Amino acid sequence: MRKLSTAIAFILLATTLSAKAVKTVTITGTEQMKWDVATIEAKPGEQIHVVLKAAGSMPKAAMAHNFVLLKAGVNAQDVATAAMTARETDFIPASMKDKIIANTTLAGGGETVEVTFKAPMKPGTYPYLCTFPGHFAVGMKGELVVK
Ligand code: CU
Repeated sequence: MRKLSTAIAFILLATTLSAKAVKTVTITGTEQMKWDVATIEAKPGEQIHVVLKAAGSMPKAAMAHNFVLLKAGVNAQDVATAAMTARETDFIPASMKDKIIANTTLAGGGETVEVTFKAPMKPGTYPYLCTFPGHFAVGMKGELVVK
């Protein structure tokens, strides 16, 4: 009997926790190729909802942003370089797909894009960047810290 009530209490607790477990992170990218969130903290396996807003009114072909989260140890510069010639796939290079945990599509000025993903279970640092050409170099990068 005690075991059963413990099990029920555990299930209720787990349900409550999972209902609250989606963490929303809102990032704003500007026409100056800056964004305002350089670090995202997450618990192992936590559901993360990234909302990326692109400010400004320049044409999308000239100015747009995305959020691309990489696996641990992946060199973000390599991904940014490969992305430069990947306009047909919205700057998500096919050769780098296995290095990406999650990504949004491109947001042009005034648009919002989003993605929900599960943070890795392994504590560590996971790089993210905007792969629109030139933006990584100017500073559109950050780190997801799982701990
Ligand atoms: Cu960008």
